[in-house]
Amino acid sequence: MAAVAQARDLPGRSGIASAHPLATTAGYEVLRDGGNAFDAAVAVSAALAVVEPHSSGLGGGGFFLLYLADEDRYVFVDAREVAPGAASPSTYLDDAGQPVRAAALNGPLAAGIPGLAAGWQHVVDRYGRLPLARSLQSAIRYAEDGFPAYSRLALGVRFRRRVADQWPGFGEVFYPEGVNPEDGTAIVQQDLGNTLKRIAADGAAAFYRGELAAKMVDGVRAAGGNWTLDDLARYSVVERAPVVTQYFGNRIVTAPLPSSGGVAITTMLNILAGYSPAELTGAQGYHVIIESMRRAYRDRAEYLGDPAFTDAPLARLMHPDYATGLRAGIDLERATRSAELTGLWPEDTESRQTTHFSILDAEGNRVAATLTINGWFGSGFIPPGTGIILNNEMDDFSLAAANPNTFGLLGDAANAVAPGKRPLSSMSPTFVESDRGIAIVGTPGGSRIITMVFRAALAWMAGANADEMVALKRFHHQYFPDEVVHEPGAFSPEEFQSLTERGHLLRESRRPFGNMNVVTWDYSSNQVEAASDPRGAGEGRVY
Ligand code: GLY
Repeated sequence: MAAVAQARDLPGRSGIASAHPLATTAGYEVLRDGGNAFDAAVAVSAALAVVEPHSSGLGGGGFFLLYLADEDRYVFVDAREVAPGAASPSTYLDDAGQPVRAAALNGPLAAGIPGLAAGWQHVVDRYGRLPLARSLQSAIRYAEDGFPAYSRLALGVRFRRRVADQWPGFGEVFYPEGVNPEDGTAIVQQDLGNTLKRIAADGAAAFYRGELAAKMVDGVRAAGGNWTLDDLARYSVVERAPVVTQYFGNRIVTAPLPSSGGVAITTMLNILAGYSPAELTGAQGYHVIIESMRRAYRDRAEYLGDPAFTDAPLARLMHPDYATGLRAGIDLERATRSAELTGLWPEDTESRQTTHFSILDAEGNRVAATLTINGWFGSGFIPPGTGIILNNEMDDFSLAAANPNTFGLLGDAANAVAPGKRPLSSMSPTFVESDRGIAIVGTPGGSRIITMVFRAALAWMAGANADEMVALKRFHHQYFPDEVVHEPGAFSPEEFQSLTERGHLLRESRRPFGNMNVVTWDYSSNQVEAASDPRGAGEGRVY
């Protein structure tokens, strides 16, 4: 097992990179007032819930990967949504047994029981230094005073308006005069501000019990959903051991189930580990990377789901010998057809929401957090009087075998709907560590999250800095559909031709993908860098 050096000194400086400058500022203010990275994580997350409401928020959940510097310990906080007690596979099937995708995407039936408020409380109580109320201050201010709309948010409103118009509440906040917001339009969320104030006063318990819980359940049920007070009262976060994998002297610490990220990243790295660096250059290197993606996503579809419900063969899937077998099926001159791989076989959309932020504090504590309400503005439904946009995470379950979800992902029984079950996720907050230093990495992007994080990790290991990691041109293969989707410029003309000659179907994405946020700490120079994706509106700052 490769050794990874620990830095002897503290960074002495902090870095925060998030998807919105106001969220980065909220985190900084908490650090300035004596908080640590974990308090700052709650402040950044709460601010994003207000200023990036199309991506994450109280109506959703997510994962916080923590590194506790003084204990030299990793903690993975799973605040993922769970299916309500009344949910079953038949909830999302019509009389003919066909999946009703709209029910898992739009309105209250689409929403799992949210985990974010419980996640905040857990992180603050166990690892923070400041009261929860302090870390929610900026978010409350942004909700009550408003903040200027920007293009990504306005695009989300336009995209979801037809669905959200079915219920009152959404339009009252995002287009009160019936006119979609433009850049600079003030977005005021008074109900959300009141909800945050209630949580600041009484803790996350105020979200899961009492008046606010009753408002959510009443609103959900009146609009055709199936939540109960018991569903909310029973919600709890789970602390899990992260996936830790080694690759040529680097340690990668990443997300365990119910994220598929850690298993898939391990499989891909194990496949690559059998090739020499020379074999992994140019078009051939891209070919091997694409083939490793194809195989990891095939296994994702077949085996992975909530570990409380599914006994996935993790030891086998993450064993180097298993990767040796997968590697043996890779022809360096020819693309495998996904349909040739045994397993599942049956339209990709552009919905790529979710948010990620990275934090390093001056004492060396770290947070990589990826949070979501799933699609743009989640289910589009706000229980009246709460300001909380509910997620549409039920679509992350496999509604039927060989039936792709909104990200084009396939699944099977391991990820079928069941009461109290967590839907399989792709969110992959990750630390990459080596003698050189550490990188804190993650991004939104639905099914593409895993391959973006994988390639950013490879880039860091090859010497890239934070700016280069977030700017890297992206490409992705997910087994089905059998194509490589890529950003313009991801391949040179020669590489493009060579991959095409090998039999890869290359499709240029209409939009850039991802919104990566990275913080790095180089041990030898003691330099901290924070970089936010040039594709987004975020900000990385070093203090
Ligand atoms: N909702 C996206 C994911 O969890 O992967």
